[in-house]
Amino acid sequence: MIPRADSKTPQFALRTEIASVRFNNPVLTASGTCGYGLDMAELIDLNRLGGICTKGLSARPMRGNAPSRIVETHGGMLNAIGLQNIGARAFVAERLPLLRRYDTRIIPNVFGYTVEEYIEAIEILEDGDGIHAYELNISCPNVSAGGESFANDPSTAAAVTRAVKRAARHPVIVKLSPNVTDIAAIARAVEEAGADALSLINTAVGMAIDIETRKPRLANATGGLSGPAIKPIAVRCVFQASRAVHIPVIGIGGIATVEDALEFIIAGASAVQVGTANFYDPSAAIKIIDGLADYCRQHDLESISALVGTVRME
Ligand SMILES: Cc1cc2nc3c(=O)[nH]c(=O)nc-3n(C[C@H](O)[C@H](O)[C@H](O)COP(=O)(O)O)c2cc1C
Repeated sequence: MIPRADSKTPQFALRTEIASVRFNNPVLTASGTCGYGLDMAELIDLNRLGGICTKGLSARPMRGNAPSRIVETHGGMLNAIGLQNIGARAFVAERLPLLRRYDTRIIPNVFGYTVEEYIEAIEILEDGDGIHAYELNISCPNVSAGGESFANDPSTAAAVTRAVKRAARHPVIVKLSPNVTDIAAIARAVEEAGADALSLINTAVGMAIDIETRKPRLANATGGLSGPAIKPIAVRCVFQASRAVHIPVIGIGGIATVEDALEFIIAGASAVQVGTANFYDPSAAIKIIDGLADYCRQHDLESISALVGTVRME
């Protein structure tokens, strides 16, 4: 039985506030690894999750890339799904009414290929009841600027953040890409543009080749690397970004165990997201939540937030 959350229980110690949103605990599921949340309801109790970041939503539905779209790699996977999704309107009409019955925070992940497309998706989502915050995936190509990702340049990352902040009535979490030279510069630009929080990292661009056919193993040639293989890159990015800004940072990248989650929190993350691990252990997030509560009890921590960014440098 889940203990009641009063000030004496370890579950209380996990309560977290990010961008004025109250989370029962700091463990969320990562975009694209749990569908629209409901797909996981048969496997785990969604009420136990701190929050759910949905599959990326665009103003209109998208079919995604041709197969092969997924390749297994050492300690991870490459994906080139191509942002397939049902579209913001279908999410609001069909999925959100079911999802908001759960006691968890609902965070639609939003993307577009122009600033206008981001705004269009947000405006559709604004009609929905039960949304707590948005997560902006800025790793998409900006077709108005030669296809370079919004996330790769401080000025385009700031421009899309600023425009979405004007359109959104919920807090905006901007999700950063690791495929940049200076993550701190992007984090600062996005903070100055009004972001309420950051989440990082998205996948790292990778490639795999079949040595018999000599063709790329993904139809798209390149894809996003995720899973334990990217964890050290993600911890480094969270460490650098969280020291560059004053807004909260949510850590993502290869988190599969409570030890992984604690490492991110100590590096500077106020919360974490579990991604690829959901595919092979759908209860990974629940185990991490229980593990964090145990850690708080064992270390006499009244609040997990006391641990955020406490990495010792000497
Ligand atoms: C199959 C798959 C689909 C994904 N789709 C999205 C998406 O739609 N939007 C997004 O921002 N991130 C997406 N991601 C990235 C994850 O949310 C996460 O940032 C990344 O996988 C790193 O975390 P992990 O190593 O725990 O998986 C996707 C990842 C995977 C593996």
